[in-house]
Amino acid sequence: MKTLTITRPDDCHLHVRNGEILKTVLPHTARQFARAIIMPNLKPPVTTVAQALAYRNEILHAVPEGISFEPLMTLYLTAATTINAIKLAADSEHIHAFKLYPAGATTNSDAGVADITKIYPLLAALEKYNLPLLIHGEVTEDNCDIFDRERVFIERYLLEITANFPALRIVLEHLTTKEAVEFVESAGEKIAATITPQHLLFNRNAILAGGIKPHYYCLPILKRETHRLALVKAATSGNPKFFLGTDSAPHLTYLKENNCGCAGCYSAFAALELYAEAFEKADALDKLEGFSSFYGSDFYNLPRNTETVTLEKCDWIVPANYAEITPLKAGESLHWKIQNVIDI
Ligand code: DOR
Ligand code: ZN
Repeated sequence: MKTLTITRPDDCHLHVRNGEILKTVLPHTARQFARAIIMPNLKPPVTTVAQALAYRNEILHAVPEGISFEPLMTLYLTAATTINAIKLAADSEHIHAFKLYPAGATTNSDAGVADITKIYPLLAALEKYNLPLLIHGEVTEDNCDIFDRERVFIERYLLEITANFPALRIVLEHLTTKEAVEFVESAGEKIAATITPQHLLFNRNAILAGGIKPHYYCLPILKRETHRLALVKAATSGNPKFFLGTDSAPHLTYLKENNCGCAGCYSAFAALELYAEAFEKADALDKLEGFSSFYGSDFYNLPRNTETVTLEKCDWIVPANYAEITPLKAGESLHWKIQNVIDI
């Protein structure tokens, strides 16, 4: 049997929601990942340390018995965030970053920032207190083509932000374009990026060719093949600026198969398997461990994990659903399976 054993990974970009959905999805992540950077786009958003600590407790309650899992909390940056709130967050051992959503860019981003240039004093505070800024990098204007929104965000905002705040640690989340890869490669050492499994495995045909497939719809939206190839090259390059962040984003099936379907792919049920598939196709399985288990924790100044996980080569069919959530590749086969004492 072909197996691959690597250091237990971390998911550096994860949505687990709260309430009932949390109880369904969190065990999927906890059985693979030692830690995860938890996105704060709940309703209402997680904007204070107290809210983040309460949310952290709710997450810890959903961790199955016998498994160790550490939620790494983030706060939602808004125009109303204060410098004192940033200082308090920096003082908390459980808050690891602030997340910037341009207002209207994606799910639950209404509370996001409408004019990024107005929050420069907050970026200065993040730089001063050495808290990373996680960015959903898309402009939001209706008149900007949805396939161009990431590239335009980089040109319009990121070049200036990185020039003005050279010591600010930034993660450009869920890269989708060649231009974003080039930006991260050429930016200073404080700038890193996450890449999702869906952006490594699929291009925009997955959503639009042969019928519309809402479970492949996420934001930033899948791009054309040239971009996917650039992402695979970056992820498998061994460059520590690129690391694993699934952006697993569960929505109830009826809210995705809908007149106005929600953005988000549910990948946590087999995240590492999906990445293994992408790395194997690129003949780069030897680069999976650095991407999945080392570079993210190094960026966040966390110790590397010491446990291991083992994947075995075996074909299995993704179920049609987990509770009321349709997973990525539902009904299709995957070729790697994580060996774990706890079945899902
Ligand atoms: O597809 C997405 N879904 N992209 C995001 O940025 C947010 C996420 C969600 O929360 O559903
Ligand atoms: Zn996300």
